[in-house]
Parts: sequence; C-alpha cells; structure tokens
Amino acid sequence: MEKRNTTLGEFIIEHESYFPYSTGELSKLINALRLAAKVVNYEVNKAGLVDILGAAGDINVQGENQQKLDVLANDKFIRTLSNREIVCGIASEEEEHFITINSNDKQNRNKYVVLIDPLDGSSNIDVNVSVGTIFSIYRRVTPVGTPVTMEDFLQPGKNQVAAGYIVYGTSTMLVYTTGHGVNGFTLNPAIGTFYLSHPDMEFPETGNIYSVNEGNYIHFPQGVKSYIKYCQMEEGERPYTSRYIGSLVSDFHRNMIKGGIYIYPKSSIASNGKLRLLYECNPMALIAEQANGKASDGFGRILDIQPKELHERVPFFCGSRKMVEKAEEFMRG
Ligand code: AHG
Ligand code: MN
Ligand code: MN
Ligand code: MN
Repeated sequence: MEKRNTTLGEFIIEHESYFPYSTGELSKLINALRLAAKVVNYEVNKAGLVDILGAAGDINVQGENQQKLDVLANDKFIRTLSNREIVCGIASEEEEHFITINSNDKQNRNKYVVLIDPLDGSSNIDVNVSVGTIFSIYRRVTPVGTPVTMEDFLQPGKNQVAAGYIVYGTSTMLVYTTGHGVNGFTLNPAIGTFYLSHPDMEFPETGNIYSVNEGNYIHFPQGVKSYIKYCQMEEGERPYTSRYIGSLVSDFHRNMIKGGIYIYPKSSIASNGKLRLLYECNPMALIAEQANGKASDGFGRILDIQPKELHERVPFFCGSRKMVEKAEEFMRG
C-alpha cells in the first residue's frame, strides 16, 4: 500500500509492535484521542454559525477568561477519554484539580494518565485563526488498582510514553509520537478519516523564522533581547522572518515544517513565562526531540524538569536545534 493511503487507524495497529509487552491499551487511547479530535474539529469548523464564539463567562484556574470553545473542547476530550477503560486520571488546563476516572474496581486497572490543553490559542477563535489541542500521556507510577494520585501526574517529561497535538488549521492535522519519530495525519473532512500525510517529520537543523511576542520586549531578560537583536541583524541568512500566531500549536507546527524557533521567555511581569509545563511544554518538547529539534527553558532540557505543581509555568525555547542552541548561548551570556 502506498504511504499516502495509510489511515491513522491502520498506522496505529501497524505500529503496535513498537511496544513488545503492549496489550493494545495505548493504541486504544490514541484512537480515543483521534475520535475526540474529530468531534472538536466539527465544532470548531462551524463556530461562526452557532452560538459558541466568545467568552463562557468564567475565569479558569489560570486566571484567564474561559472561551466557550475552551469549555466545549475540555468536555469532549474528558468524556471521550473517561468512557473507555484505558485512562485512570486526566489533568487539563481548564480543571483546577486532576480528575480520577471512576474508582470502581475495573476502571482502576487502567494504566495511563492523560494531560491536555483542550484548546490552545483560544484567543484566536473569534477571528477564525488556527487553534489546536495538545496531549501528553504517561504510565501511572502508583500501583494499578489504587486511586490515581498527584504523583502520577507530576512526572518529568522524559517519562512520557506518547504526546501529540491537533492543529485545526486550513486543514486539520493530528501529529503525534510514541517515542519512535513523529508522524502527521491530515483529516479528509468529507469522510472523517485521518491519512498519513507527513511521515517522519523533522525540524530542519536551522531555519530563518523566530516566533516571540515582541510586544513584551521591554519585560524580557537581557539574553532574550540580545537574541532578538541577533535575529534582526543583517548577516548571512539574517535578518530572520518574524512569525507569531499566538497559538503555540500553530507556531510550532509551522516552525517544524519550515525551520524556526519559538520563544516564550520569563519576563519582569511573569517570572516563569506563561506556558504550562505539563500539558503545553512537555508534550511539545517530546515531539521536538523526536523530530530532531530541541526544547529548553533557556538553560536546560525541558524534559528533565521535575514538576512540582499541576499548572506550573516554565520559560520555553523550542524549535530547530541550532537556533535553540544559539538562543541558549545568549541566555548564558
Ligand atoms: P491557551 O489558549 O491554551 O491558554 O494557550 C495560549 C498560549 C499559547 O498557545 C500561545 O502561544 C500563547 O499563549 C500566547 O500568549 P501571548 O498572547 O501572551 O503572546
Ligand atoms: Mn487558556
Ligand atoms: Mn495553550
Ligand atoms: Mn488552552
């Protein structure tokens, strides 16, 4: 069969053998995410036609105005994951506490915890610009058969067994890794099937795009200011192009295909930046590393950080390897 005809469903089954002791649960889990992605895609696509644009009226645990689609996407993903006997706990950007999936005896045998950013870039919804979903999957560390605990969620990113994102863009794509490279699937909306369209995705070693919210320049640390000046200097391939969508998923996706760096640094007004370690930075960092890219907090590897809290934030430098290394050089300087 030609590669471009492979569906995501077929791909998941074909690659089950990557996990020698697999019982098929991880495959089932990715299948559930695939299903939720299609449902959310359907809702996002008709957002301008029905009353789901705008604010939901609540402030989430992050202090942000929750959008109606934040709530809807959160609900769809949680429901789809809870209805199957695979996941024992879920943490989400939109939920203050983690959710324990039914503690009846059978469900407690589930091995996996999932962390999600149900809708990333939600400030873009009202203006019809790309948004995304991010997911991160771990094997629980506490014994199967007992209720899930905070310890199961607070694992360093290097323990992730899989991670991925969905970008609801000009076309909808699901991109994921189980630690054996990164593959991208495009949804054919007419028949509701994802096809393998981007096998073995890799960041170019270097690139000429930098993505950072320069409106915050005045608040950035000196290292970031100097790196931005370096990007703008005329020399060789520089000045680089500046591209910032305001949705991590979309900015990351573009940079992985074209070559670039995404930066959300700490600043004088946000001591750890804005992005959340567990369901934004860790999954993107695993994908970046699996795609020959790099993810750092400016000084060290994102995937090595021991998390302390569910919603903790971390500075994020991610993208083409050489560009991230250059930015780190400026941070050290
Ligand atoms: P979310 O919509 O899930 O809260 O995430 C928003 C994040 C990220 O997607 C984006 O890159 C960043 O916030 C944009 O922040 P600024 O508007 O501060 O640049
Ligand atoms: Mn948010
Ligand atoms: Mn987000
Ligand atoms: Mn979000």
